[in-house]
Amino acid sequence: MYHRCNGNARNAIPSMDNGYMPPSQTDDWATPRAFYDDLDMFHEFTLDAAASSTNRLCEQWFGLDHPNPDRRNGLTGTWEGHVWCNPPYGRGIKDWVKKASEHNDLVVMLLPARTDTAWFHDYCLYKAQIEFMRGRLKFGNAINAAPFPSMVVIFNG
Ligand SMILES: C[S@@+](CC[C@H](N)C(=O)[O-])C[C@H]1O[C@@H](n2cnc3c(N)ncnc32)[C@H](O)[C@@H]1O
Repeated sequence: MYHRCNGNARNAIPSMDNGYMPPSQTDDWATPRAFYDDLDMFHEFTLDAAASSTNRLCEQWFGLDHPNPDRRNGLTGTWEGHVWCNPPYGRGIKDWVKKASEHNDLVVMLLPARTDTAWFHDYCLYKAQIEFMRGRLKFGNAINAAPFPSMVVIFNG
């Protein structure tokens, strides 16, 4: 299922639940389902570390609306098993990448390819396997491609 965009492609951003939101209201970019399924087939994820009740991709998940209060913060909660993580792309992204780099098992992240950032150099460049995406992903339900490049970052624990 894909999110809708309105006519202004430059400002278009997918929302997790409602089809469309301006960029100032969300930094959540839902993984294209087929893209996730390909990675899941290979890695057999057991935990979606950054999710919600409507966009979770694994049986086990952390999210702000999780019915169990202990599962509402993927940044402070304990990660177990093979972790999928497409975090919010705002300023806090560095905390998600740091946590992933410290996990003692597999973590696969879908991230914006911001190769000039401190978090990329500190936690990804020499510690992870990185696959840069050719072209740009169409997140969620979007008709248009994202205005930024993406990368898959794999921490092998
Ligand atoms: C980019 S979306 C990822 C959605 C989906 N899990 C996926 O991979 O496509 C990021 C999700 O993280 C959630 N989120 C934000 N802060 C969080 C936190 N502290 N702990 C867990 N999830 C969080 C957001 O509500 C949003 O649903």
